[in-house]
Amino acid sequence: MTISKVGIIGTGTMGLGVAQVCASAGHDVIAVKATPGPAEKAKDTVAKGLGKMVERGKMEAATRDAILGRMTFTGDENAVTDSDLVIESIIEDLETKKALFRRLDQVCRPDTLLTTNTSTLSVTAMMSVCQKRDRVAGLHFFNPAPVMKLVEVIHGFETSDETLQKLETFCNGINKDPVIVQDTTGFIVNRLLVPYMLNAIRMLERGTGAIETIDHAMKAGAAHPMGPFELADYIGLDVVEAMSMNIYMDVRHEHHAPPHTLTRLVQLGYLGRKTGKGFYDYSAKPPVQNPQLQRPVI
Ligand code: CAA
Repeated sequence: MTISKVGIIGTGTMGLGVAQVCASAGHDVIAVKATPGPAEKAKDTVAKGLGKMVERGKMEAATRDAILGRMTFTGDENAVTDSDLVIESIIEDLETKKALFRRLDQVCRPDTLLTTNTSTLSVTAMMSVCQKRDRVAGLHFFNPAPVMKLVEVIHGFETSDETLQKLETFCNGINKDPVIVQDTTGFIVNRLLVPYMLNAIRMLERGTGAIETIDHAMKAGAAHPMGPFELADYIGLDVVEAMSMNIYMDVRHEHHAPPHTLTRLVQLGYLGRKTGKGFYDYSAKPPVQNPQLQRPVI
């Protein structure tokens, strides 16, 4: 079985980015909006992103139309039952994901591969509610999905070698670089990246340097495209805090617990770029350090 039809459940930033990547590589894609509301809005988001590429001369209008033509947007979860591969990209809540996997396992074709795009939750826990477990795995993309090359292919406890091989081939076919990783919390990238961002926040709390200074140091000194605070704001501070908590709950080492400043910003609704304020204030052009962080956060 080669993968032709891909079902994506969840039309947030990651779900839509992955849907766009798959359709750009020639796959038929069914994108399911997992929460109430019009699914057509998701189509507008993808069309707008592709439209910008056309405007900048990076893509032909005909290519954009062909990509959009391969994408179907719906609110009906059952539309994915006939897919060769399903990629779940819904809310990062284990019980919600397990309930979805339980339903998918019952309604999808027996040879449909069922995958999760979770960043720090257990693939094996999602697999545990399925009858046919050998076809369940993780397929973890990075934001922005159309740009970032890596996909972590997660080997759950009962994932078969055949499933992993099919997923690896699929990733190569959509122009990504897959790595196979065992199902450990945070896999490779987030297990390294989350403590890195947490350490930067602790460094700020200790007064080692200002936000912009620490970011500048990591860009100029380690050739990172973004500094740790820019990256945290880009990912979303609520997401960073949740990833930190998931890793902490697994290893129970305080080194992985969310620092105070991160928790406070999330409590206040300052979630980074998506809310206009986080470690930076994005109402200024270019963004400036959040002035509220110039004194200690208590
Ligand atoms: N969709 C499609 N294309 C995009 C894009 C998007 N959302 N964002 C940027 N691009 C493209 C641009 O079109 C541009 O393409 P061309 O070179 O062909 O023109 C290219 O990417 C560079 O973009 P920009 O010039 O606008 O901006 P930049 O050079 O500052 O790069 C960036 C932006 C790619 C986001 C870069 O800053 C970067 O790589 N940052 C680090 C991102 C990162 O680490 N992501 C991983 C986060 S962790 C994660 O995702 C895991 C998790 O589970 C939470």
